Amino acid sequence: MVMEVFRIQGGNRLAGQVRVTGAKNSSLKLMAVALLATGKTTLRSVPNILDVTIMAELLRRLGCEVTYDSATEIAVIDVPEKIEHRADYDLVRRMRASIAVLGPLVARTGSADVALPGGDAIGSRGLDMHIAGLERMGAKVTNDHGYLVVHAPSTGLTGTQVYLDFPSVGATETLLTAAVLAKGKTVIDNAAREPEIVDICQMLVKMGAQIEGIGTSMLTVTGVAELNPVEHTTVPDRIVAGTWAVAATITQGDITVSNANPEHISLALDKLNSAGAHVSIVADGFRVTMDKRPKAVDIVTLPYPGFATDLQPQFIAMNSVAEGQAMVTENLFEARFRFVQELSRLGAEVRTDGHHALVRGKSHLSGAPVEATDIRAGAGLVLAGLVADGETVVHAVEHIDRGYVGFEQELARLGAKIVREKTQDFK
Ligand code: UD1
Repeated sequence: MVMEVFRIQGGNRLAGQVRVTGAKNSSLKLMAVALLATGKTTLRSVPNILDVTIMAELLRRLGCEVTYDSATEIAVIDVPEKIEHRADYDLVRRMRASIAVLGPLVARTGSADVALPGGDAIGSRGLDMHIAGLERMGAKVTNDHGYLVVHAPSTGLTGTQVYLDFPSVGATETLLTAAVLAKGKTVIDNAAREPEIVDICQMLVKMGAQIEGIGTSMLTVTGVAELNPVEHTTVPDRIVAGTWAVAATITQGDITVSNANPEHISLALDKLNSAGAHVSIVADGFRVTMDKRPKAVDIVTLPYPGFATDLQPQFIAMNSVAEGQAMVTENLFEARFRFVQELSRLGAEVRTDGHHALVRGKSHLSGAPVEATDIRAGAGLVLAGLVADGETVVHAVEHIDRGYVGFEQELARLGAKIVREKTQDFK
């Protein structure tokens, strides 16, 4: 099978400017939110990644007309009055974020048949809180031949108080999008507070939804009869911005990141500061400069505003070449340390025990073939390859392409020696 790889020669310092696109984890959800209103929704700053193509196809199957222009990064979604309610396995299995249509479908049509999702291989990622919340709002939920089948009563969903066991991003989105058209008041307690959730809330409010407590862990939604289509610009991708910040630190470089909100990654930037980097705020973003080997920094991933799990592999990569040792604790996805085995192929010294990883910094990594197991693991391996001696070949770059637009081109522009190549893989 012909696959693509990144071939990297390590040792170059990165310097220059990069502009971040809109957040993948917001854009995909905003596209699904469009289903809540009949008519034309226009979304700006939608990144040109495969997942956007998959979500566009999913919306088309539900009856929408969707256009996406990669040059302008504008997606237009025209939603008919009557939409279908089935999200097929062939699309959902390719992208877990397909579950974002669940709430809008139940709210709009009273039912949803959504294939149980696949997506990144980074943990079990249950749906129990999505289901329990919808049931509390009056829905009947069954698991039927690999599909989650949801039916609202004929009178629609009813607002209620929902407590989430854990501030799940996905469950908060499902309940929020179900509640905006429900009868009465829904209170989502222990809600996720990620900037992408705030972005969705802001778009919903523009559409006519009534939501209080935006950005807090208690969202109060008062249902309305209908919502209107709007224009909306996606929040910048804080994980991509954070990846560039680590790239500057690990390569002892100097990168100015624009279209970025430093407040959204303040904890990560503070960690880089502790590692010895100089972080300054500039118009429309931030700048990270570094002139020495980084110091190892401890990390504990937590729901926002805690340290983002999606930046954990990049920080493990940095710690693996840092001075000293660091403890990294992963609290969100149990399988996220799978990438450590790949990093070890470069000579990194990382010991894992349950959800802890002890990283002992080494003065040198040595280039080797490695495989990306998910988007962020892939980014972490590329960063490690940038500082490893000799050649690193990162396989399965299709994972990286799902989260980073033209990653290798941007890296090359900043001074990295990296090329995309086709290769024959036995898969
Ligand atoms: C989203 C992001 C992902 C990010 C994560 C945490 C998208 C497309 N993906 O994923 O990049 O890493 O937030 O910031 O936006 N869980 C349950 N039951 C549930 C819901 C979740 O057990 O009903 C568990 C999951 O198995 C997982 C953890 O909670 O271990 C986090 O899940 P959640 O916050 O929902 O993340 P996602 O929405 O899947």
